[in-house]
Amino acid sequence: MNNFTFHNPTKLLFGKGMISHLEEELKAFNKKILLVYGGGSIKRNGLYDQVIEILTDHNAEVFELPGVEPNPRVSTAREGIEICKKEKIDFILAVGGGSTIDCVKAIAVGAKTDDDIWDIVTKRKPAKDALPFGTILTLAATGSEMNAGSVITNWETKEKHGWGSPYSYPTFSILDPVYTYTVPRDQTVYGIVDIMSHAFEHYFHHKENTLLQDRMVEGILRTVIDTAPKLLEDLENYQHRATILYCGTMALNGMVNMGYQGDWATHNLEHAISAVHDIPHGGGLAILFPNWMTHTLDANVARFKQMAVRVFDIDEIGKSDREIALEGIQALRQFWNSIGAPSTLADYEISEDSIEEMADKTVIANSEYGNFKKLNRNDSVAIFKESL
Ligand code: NZQ
Ligand code: ZN
Repeated sequence: MNNFTFHNPTKLLFGKGMISHLEEELKAFNKKILLVYGGGSIKRNGLYDQVIEILTDHNAEVFELPGVEPNPRVSTAREGIEICKKEKIDFILAVGGGSTIDCVKAIAVGAKTDDDIWDIVTKRKPAKDALPFGTILTLAATGSEMNAGSVITNWETKEKHGWGSPYSYPTFSILDPVYTYTVPRDQTVYGIVDIMSHAFEHYFHHKENTLLQDRMVEGILRTVIDTAPKLLEDLENYQHRATILYCGTMALNGMVNMGYQGDWATHNLEHAISAVHDIPHGGGLAILFPNWMTHTLDANVARFKQMAVRVFDIDEIGKSDREIALEGIQALRQFWNSIGAPSTLADYEISEDSIEEMADKTVIANSEYGNFKKLNRNDSVAIFKESL
């Protein structure tokens, strides 16, 4: 494995009732707080009222930015930045899923600079500072609650880009599995697919001697595969919600992937689809990942075989490595089908007509992408065609 430095400054508060620590966590900051949330789920499930009560007891001066979209828009981040600058906000509190948290990361960084936030997202300018922010997570999926990443969409130019900086870690994140009870079945499935996809993005690399990392990633995958069907039968089961929530954080907080670089081509392909068609991130990944796997299989058959055997318990007897690897990929597709994830672009009424436009979006920043196997625009077209 490679040398590495690991530093994750986010304080995690996990479990039922942990919101009781919110006021204590806020004590380190001044009292002008911008509360940011999505399209209303927190109002419907009572979390909004609970947060407002705590902020009122804290004598906070509360400003609000509601309406952060799934696939959050740079225009919404700019609105938040304007509020922060005009009202001299001290602290931002994100209450919601990955989209709300990602938008808050952009607001926090944008509030401390005169540069346009889109220039920072597209990496034309570096982030230099940020307002402090905390999160209350309501959906298990992205890991944004404990990482520095953020994914922002520019709907005018139909672009969606990931970015991050040392300043965009939450200072704290409160994760109460109870808040995820109201996540609808389909969004729960998208979250499960996203968590597994983060594990796969880590898993496909060529570094040697990543023994513990492999087992940790496999552990996340096996745990999700075991728990997801039980959770989907019982959406308000505390233990299952807690397991998936913890898996989501661990899959993308840097803990399981030290010392090597993962692939991330499939996320690039998915961001191109949702930039053009505004589909849920996990839905796009479910369509793409098995097709990326068959497309890149020959770059390292042994790695795919290891996944097939260790994660999907594929029987090895009398089969070539390639056959075992292909059975593993097939088992993944079957698992995602069994929990109701989409499997073709047609599931979102996306046809061959937009393949060229989406393929263009996969290679905007550079002509190649992906670390396990370098892919180019022709590969994007091929994988999208496989996904029709
Ligand atoms: O907006 P509200 O009304 O809150 O409803 C949301 C939204 O409609 C709803 N929801 C969230 N919590 C709920 C709930 N509904 C009922 N009860 C609850 N407790 O779920 C819908 C989807 O929410 P969203 O935040 O968009 O989902 P997710 O957490 O999957 O975030 C997706 C975004 O994160 C990016 C994706 O590309 C996408 O833009 N990603 C961010 C990453 C990161 N920062 O590290 C990595 C990921 O790979 C990903 O790319
Ligand atoms: Zn993802």
